[in-house]
Amino acid sequence: MGLGQPRIHLDRCGSTNDELAARAAGAATGTAVIADRQDAGRGRGAHLWHSPPGNLYASILLRPAVAPAVVPAISLVAGIAVARALRQYGVEARLKWPNDVVVGDRKIAGVLSESASRGGAVDHVIAGVGVNLATRDFPPELAATATSVAVITGHAPEPGEVLDAICAELGDPLARFVAGGVPAIRADWEALWRDRGRRARVDVGEGVAIGITDAGHLELELDGGARVTALAGPVEMI
Ligand code: BTN
Repeated sequence: MGLGQPRIHLDRCGSTNDELAARAAGAATGTAVIADRQDAGRGRGAHLWHSPPGNLYASILLRPAVAPAVVPAISLVAGIAVARALRQYGVEARLKWPNDVVVGDRKIAGVLSESASRGGAVDHVIAGVGVNLATRDFPPELAATATSVAVITGHAPEPGEVLDAICAELGDPLARFVAGGVPAIRADWEALWRDRGRRARVDVGEGVAIGITDAGHLELELDGGARVTALAGPVEMI
């Protein structure tokens, strides 16, 4: 079975990442949970993920043969797949490091990867994907920063169909990542990257975003010439 299969469809749940984690033991690689809505959708950090009906909320079980240290970079791989899938629907999706899919300055999708290890090795990774498909009226706290496929194209595709497209786009970059790490997917990621050459502010100063490192960290050239890497943020694009 390929990525996205078998597929468990829930009308409603707290978080598809949690539902898949609860079913991960013994589950086949590629198993996916998709929900019509989430009551406790999670974003990165302490953020909630606004999850009304009509959008895609899905989690995919992966068992990549990679070292635990490189697991966070799987978010970059998933981002490539989501952006490419959205482009099939006429959306000019681009990537914002580390795991946002954006259209211009507005976020349309996000990836939350969570992993479990056993005996020092990666047991599984859950790639959770949220894509705004149908939402036209966002709550006030998101109104200035979020968008959806329906807002951009006037049409909201079926969530299951978009999950199919993401899974189809995930296989190739994932295989290359497992074989060759971030260097093997860097060109793909940077081709979709929104922020090359854009000014950014990090805790040690300001500079220009120039790329991602072999570890998947954002690389900046600070004013004055020093190069620094941002491990997980905060990075403020300015
Ligand atoms: C982010 O951009 O902060 C990541 C958002 C990830 C949201 C998705 S929706 C499906 C899956 N289940 C969750 O609880 N979160 C992810």
